[in-house]
Amino acid sequence: MEIHGRSAIVFGGGSGLGEATARRLAQLGASVTVVDLNGRRAELVAAAVGGRAVSADVTDEAAVQAAVDSAAAATGSGLRIAVCCAGVGDPLKLLGREGPTPLAQLRRVIDVNLIGTLNALRLAAWAMTTNEPDAGGERGVCVTTASVAAFEGQVGQVAYSASKGGVAALTLPVARELARFGIRLVSVAPGLFNTPMLAALPQEARESLAASVPFPPRLGEPSEYAQLVEQIIVNPMLNGETIRLDGAIRMAPR
Ligand SMILES: NC(=O)c1ccc[n+]([C@@H]2O[C@H](COP(=O)([O-])OP(=O)(O)OC[C@H]3O[C@@H](n4cnc5c(N)ncnc54)[C@H](O)[C@@H]3O)[C@@H](O)[C@H]2O)c1
Repeated sequence: MEIHGRSAIVFGGGSGLGEATARRLAQLGASVTVVDLNGRRAELVAAAVGGRAVSADVTDEAAVQAAVDSAAAATGSGLRIAVCCAGVGDPLKLLGREGPTPLAQLRRVIDVNLIGTLNALRLAAWAMTTNEPDAGGERGVCVTTASVAAFEGQVGQVAYSASKGGVAALTLPVARELARFGIRLVSVAPGLFNTPMLAALPQEARESLAASVPFPPRLGEPSEYAQLVEQIIVNPMLNGETIRLDGAIRMAPR
């Protein structure tokens, strides 16, 4: 799918991996709609890329519908690219010191990361079905963000791993379902990336995490995530798969 001149929507585009993706897609000539719970960040990024900002919670049906409608109207050819990076990484165990972890805390992570991804996907994909197919028969491309925690969750990643496992698992059935419309879905499973989400950890913890990556022995840069999103969009054979982007790391139990 060509990127230049196309409308793209990036959920969680106000920071980190989503921000880098919004910037890259805009550099490549896309008209970008930046959606984020943090409206101020969405506006900053949108202003930097000459796009539109929408302040929305990815789990909110009406707000995401409005964002998709705005993105679909941005160019004459409808919404063609949807990337979902919105997510939260709250560390949670099954059992806390005082008792079982409150269900509401576990549910919130699943809600944002998994239900939010499903919400964004269903509304973006529906909008894409009305597009004219391009010369290769494509109407749109969707990219979601899982994590290596989908496969090697650490202690304290109970809800996070469950949510990301869900994002990885839905990739194939959704790609199969959307095939008849010429819409692809690929999921990216990042390892350790240098974003505000990881910046929350102490410097020492970040350095030891970076050193645990076989090669290159460093944190990934958000621009490297965006580079993969670009490849997924332009290469029509990439479909229905979760791609690890992780420097060969396999996370330890703790
Ligand atoms: N950084 C990493 O090492 C890493 C590794 C694996 C997976 N991931 C995943 O990549 C994605 C992006 O992470 P990041 O590191 O860029 O984090 P980040 O915190 O920098 O960015 C996440 C963005 O999502 C937004 N967001 C959070 N909840 C939202 C909601 N309910 N609705 C709309 N927007 C919401 C935040 O405001 C923020 O701008 C997440 O899904 C994360 O789980 C990150």
